[in-house]
Amino acid sequence: MWTRRDVVKTLAAGGGMLAMPATIREALGALEPDVEIVLTATKGEAPILSGRATPVWTYRGKVVKGEAGSMQSIPGSYLGPIIRVRKGQRVRLVLENGLAEATNIHWHGLHVPDDMDGHPRHTAAPGKRFVYEFEIKDRAGTYFFHPHPHGRTGTQAYFGLAGLFLVSDEEEQAAKLPLGEYDLPLILQDRSFDGENRLVFLSDERARGGGMMGGGMMGGMMGGGMMDMMTRMMGFLGDRVLVNGRPDAILSVATRPYRLRLLNASNARIFKLAWDDGSPLTVIGTDGGLLEAPVQRSYVTLAPGERIELWTDFSRYAVGTELTMRSLPFAGDMAMGGGMMGGGMMGMMMGNQELPNGAAFPVLKVRVARSEKAPVTLPKRLSTIVRYRPEDAVNYRRPRVFHITMGMMEWGINGRGFEMERVAEDEIVRLNTLEVWEFANDASMGMMGMMAHPMHIHGLQFQILERSVTRALREARDSVSAGYVDEGWKDEVFLMPGERAKVLVAFKDFPGLFPYHCHMLEHGDTGLMRNYLVRV
Ligand code: C2O
Ligand code: CU
Repeated sequence: MWTRRDVVKTLAAGGGMLAMPATIREALGALEPDVEIVLTATKGEAPILSGRATPVWTYRGKVVKGEAGSMQSIPGSYLGPIIRVRKGQRVRLVLENGLAEATNIHWHGLHVPDDMDGHPRHTAAPGKRFVYEFEIKDRAGTYFFHPHPHGRTGTQAYFGLAGLFLVSDEEEQAAKLPLGEYDLPLILQDRSFDGENRLVFLSDERARGGGMMGGGMMGGMMGGGMMDMMTRMMGFLGDRVLVNGRPDAILSVATRPYRLRLLNASNARIFKLAWDDGSPLTVIGTDGGLLEAPVQRSYVTLAPGERIELWTDFSRYAVGTELTMRSLPFAGDMAMGGGMMGGGMMGMMMGNQELPNGAAFPVLKVRVARSEKAPVTLPKRLSTIVRYRPEDAVNYRRPRVFHITMGMMEWGINGRGFEMERVAEDEIVRLNTLEVWEFANDASMGMMGMMAHPMHIHGLQFQILERSVTRALREARDSVSAGYVDEGWKDEVFLMPGERAKVLVAFKDFPGLFPYHCHMLEHGDTGLMRNYLVRV
């Protein structure tokens, strides 16, 4: 095991300027930002259901420097503002913590130095600030931001802390995709409410807008009993679907093409999205931006943290048409003893299973409201993606394998839970190398069975090389796999029970300590998270 001191030494040796705290860098004047935005995490209220406003946690944003268009609020929503920047811009994002507990921000999908990435070891105490500064090195795409304090990510995100981070670049502009009101972000989340319109989460946190109470397993047991303990570990599922913070969303569109940017910002909900009239979906982008060329799917599978971009042309519908985007039924996210089970024993034990993963429900209504001609056509070629060559990987013949494990009622990776500042020998990689990583979701977890897990690597975008699945669980996997879009850049790979995936990961620019974890937020919060260390 590496100790904290080893890690710090490595960072100091290799990181140089980049390993310095932002405050020191700031003092040195290393970065004069093009854009500066203050994001205040605070408690507030939002009108969500009819009647009383809902107590929420939210980011209030303010542009301090740069174009006013660098930030766009979603009126009336608890969701954070949409940040819009261009590749090559230098940004300063000041987090002000107006909450009663520590928080931080992770820039999900962005390639940033390790001390700017929102690692759980870097948080701002209540009343304090944390200054993030980095250059936008990523290609155009739909990224997002959310808190990442260990053990509290699920709670803080659930009560409302999350926002979109859109990057544009010249390549994207050349594709001439729909802009402005025709470029629609759709943030999907599931939530539950009590009779007074308050968000329901774990019972020790419900209604109070998530106060702190003895976290962890014991806290759960004493607070809300067995149900809470199971939910805290297995994942929270709400019984209502919100789009951009609103229930029963209706989108009013014109008869022309749209760019729909879907983000699954749920804690643990998996979507299998399709149009109810059976028309196929034209996918143009994934986590790390545009695909090389559009691809068609009859449905798309979207796990927590994943993004998908659609080109949707409403011109073939008559004005007055209504269509619905639904989440289709699938085998669920749990397997026991080799077979799948929807909402059986495990489901009951988990409480909150009115709408289990795998249940069908409507997500969004679209009303074709007006006729409009638009001189935009779907480009045949969207972007250039340089493919990694597997044989260039330093461990091509012996991929690193990360097994998702369950020990004594605790999640882990290769049998180890999260350790704030540590890495194991097999989690150390070299800067400027390409590797094959294999995530394996096929370890038996005894009575816990198996669950689906979207695995996320911080600080980079990777390419999915290949997948495989245990024979006994193939059918269940096949109930969602036609909706995988593995063609483009990804920062997450979704694995059904029994599934394995090899990904090609390159470590460039930034040495340091970065997390990799499951993006079912409750899984990450209860141990399904580790660090990897990039050494020079
Ligand atoms: Cu969006 Cu560490 O995650
Ligand atoms: Cu998981």
